[in-house]
Amino acid sequence: MEVRAAENDLEAGRAALMSGWSSGERPLVMVRGKGAFVWDSQGRRYLDCISQAWAMNVGHSHPRVIEAAERQAREIAQVRSNYGNEPILLLAKRLAELAPGRLNRVAFSLHGSTAIETAMKLAMINRPGAGPFLTLFDGYHGRTLATMAVSWPHPNNKFAAFQRDPVRVPQAYCYRCPLNLTYSSCGIACADLVRQSIRKGITGRPTALLMEPIQGNGAQLDFPPEYLKAIRQICDEEGVLLIWDEVQTAFGRIPAMFAADYYGVVPDILVFGKAIGGGYPLAGVVARDDLEEFGPGEDALTFGHFAPSAAAALATIEVLEDEGVFENCKRQGDYIVNRLRDLQQGYEIIGDVRGPGLAIGVELVRDRQTKEPATKEAQEFYELGMERGVIFGTTRYGGLGNVVKIKPPAIITREEADLALEVFEDVLREISGRSRRN
Ligand SMILES: Cc1ncc(COP(=O)(O)O)c(C=O)c1O
Repeated sequence: MEVRAAENDLEAGRAALMSGWSSGERPLVMVRGKGAFVWDSQGRRYLDCISQAWAMNVGHSHPRVIEAAERQAREIAQVRSNYGNEPILLLAKRLAELAPGRLNRVAFSLHGSTAIETAMKLAMINRPGAGPFLTLFDGYHGRTLATMAVSWPHPNNKFAAFQRDPVRVPQAYCYRCPLNLTYSSCGIACADLVRQSIRKGITGRPTALLMEPIQGNGAQLDFPPEYLKAIRQICDEEGVLLIWDEVQTAFGRIPAMFAADYYGVVPDILVFGKAIGGGYPLAGVVARDDLEEFGPGEDALTFGHFAPSAAAALATIEVLEDEGVFENCKRQGDYIVNRLRDLQQGYEIIGDVRGPGLAIGVELVRDRQTKEPATKEAQEFYELGMERGVIFGTTRYGGLGNVVKIKPPAIITREEADLALEVFEDVLREISGRSRRN
């Protein structure tokens, strides 16, 4: 029989728990997850279009992932990182085989933020004395001190005493082009802003260019493939290291193991996280094998080689490869994006629909001509979706806050995709009706 915690104990826990998360949300307790769904303590079911922070690409409670993590936990869970453990070594081998080009050297961490810091330290070792990092507008790289600093400017930032600003460059935001040009007649002119910033925006050279190949947190923004290629070329020509933050994109959010494979662009350092553990915490970097590496003690964390997470990751990779997850990601992603573009014909509020795969963003505007952001409406989407049993993602801080995200597990079925779309349209109808009345 299922035994649940007493409501007053949960209430006391809630009162004790510190939170840096946004306030004002309903106090839900999630108690179960299976496939593309999660259930709260009241027994309500939600279609999880946020994959619990975009981490559950193979779905909740995948039996192969649970089995692998459980088996490892029974053998040995924690091994100090100066000793080897089997799953971590097998995973390092597997990632070096899978990652493209010369990305053959692997380091692990438990969070995307700390993995980004590993990448930043690696770049600093290889560019001693170089200047600040270069980043893109609306980029997001984590919540540790260093990664907050290299993300979009945090509102009311209280941490500046221990942070260093990057040089931020406008990104290829085609729907709102920073140069007021139109894709593709623009010739990707915005890539040259990166070159100009390398040459003129910094005294000396930047330590590296740190960017997401698809901006998840900012405005769920995918870039034209030519832009990614042009930036790679600029970095090569200018002698600048390129770090791709694939914490969101790797392992099935888009139809490939890595965005580097999907776009045919290989960074010098690639950072992964979130989905690799299939629900267990794991992150890390794969770096070019000719880079100088860490000295003793320069990158060691207590749980950095956590064996159950590594075992879960090996199983997750097998699931991605054996169970047609990338194909499904493409099939369902294309289906949802096409249906959303159909809806765009009927709903003025839909300004732009973006993919690829299941990295789907819908930018809402009050007016198609002025593109005035429909920020309040996008924020309402979350509540109205929850009432109807679907968790949609919103953008809260980076970007304009007017993008609704649909990023379910990549094992989502056609019926589940239809459910997400049905609820999306229902909410859209309600929100459009309201903004017409206002
Ligand atoms: C692109 C990107 N980089 C880094 C991070 C930080 O990862 P974590 O929250 O695991 O530290 C995130 C988390 O949302 C992310 O989306």
